[in-house]
Amino acid sequence: MRTVGDLRALRACIRAWKQEGHRVGFVPTMGNLHAGHFSLVDLARRQADRVVASVFVNPTQFGPSEDFARYPRTLAEDSVGLVEHNCDLLFAPSVEVMYPFGPEQAMRIHVPGVGDTLEGAHRPGHFDGVATIVAKLFAMVEPDVAVFGQKDWQQLLVVRRLARELAFPLEIVAGPTVRDDDGLALSSRNRYLDVHQRARAPELHATLEWMRESFVDGHVLAAIEGAAVRRLERAGFNPDYAVVRRAEDLGVPAEGERSGLLALVAAKLGNTRLIDNLAFD
Ligand code: PAJ
Repeated sequence: MRTVGDLRALRACIRAWKQEGHRVGFVPTMGNLHAGHFSLVDLARRQADRVVASVFVNPTQFGPSEDFARYPRTLAEDSVGLVEHNCDLLFAPSVEVMYPFGPEQAMRIHVPGVGDTLEGAHRPGHFDGVATIVAKLFAMVEPDVAVFGQKDWQQLLVVRRLARELAFPLEIVAGPTVRDDDGLALSSRNRYLDVHQRARAPELHATLEWMRESFVDGHVLAAIEGAAVRRLERAGFNPDYAVVRRAEDLGVPAEGERSGLLALVAAKLGNTRLIDNLAFD
């Protein structure tokens, strides 16, 4: 695996592959890689001849009081894991490469609608930062296929919308959420949890399962959502939302709408904010 940090080296490598007729797969990440990330690398491997991963902790998607400064940076371990998963190229750029005019002066891409609700409402500017960095990475890597995790369902919808509207000639593929044995979705932020919080954390996924069962039992959505919030509070979480939405666009389901739905939750455990979701069908 080669590791490059500048655009010239990245482009030279990608151009050479494309001249040889290779299909290029891409997995963007912020590093501190775990089995969830590596499952996306494996998925990219099955979709393409050459696989590129990026590691960049993107400052513009963190709010002023969020964890940008303390976000775990583990590039040496990340690259060992990427080699094990047959990644061909690691792009690990500096802030200067990604933001030549500085992060404050950077142009921003706003994805209205699907980017404004839920995470967009609770983390103002977050998806502008995500959409901006993903568009920059797409323009630099020029992948034929890019792989994202269903773990961040709303992000996936934002990226699909961005790729379509900016006409990037690529396919977006989604990979399933990888979980620990107790149901907790793997996340770089899980490492912030102390042992007591870690013991409670699976309740997030258990609540999603409970929401799906209640839905199957025919309960009214508003009642399910309210009970889910209370259930999380009782388990020691500070929930931002627990909702049932249309998977396709996060729209509020019409009365009697039974298919294509998904539950999404976001809740804080101490200072750590966790998100998860579960499709109903
Ligand atoms: P990051 O949180 O590092 O996640 C990188 C990719 O891994 C995302 O597509 C995310 O959905 C996926 N992922 C995370 N946890 C997962 C799990 N448990 N199972 C499967 N996939 C999982 O998401 C970002 O970085 C950034 O916002 C980024 C898109 C790189 C832009 O900066």
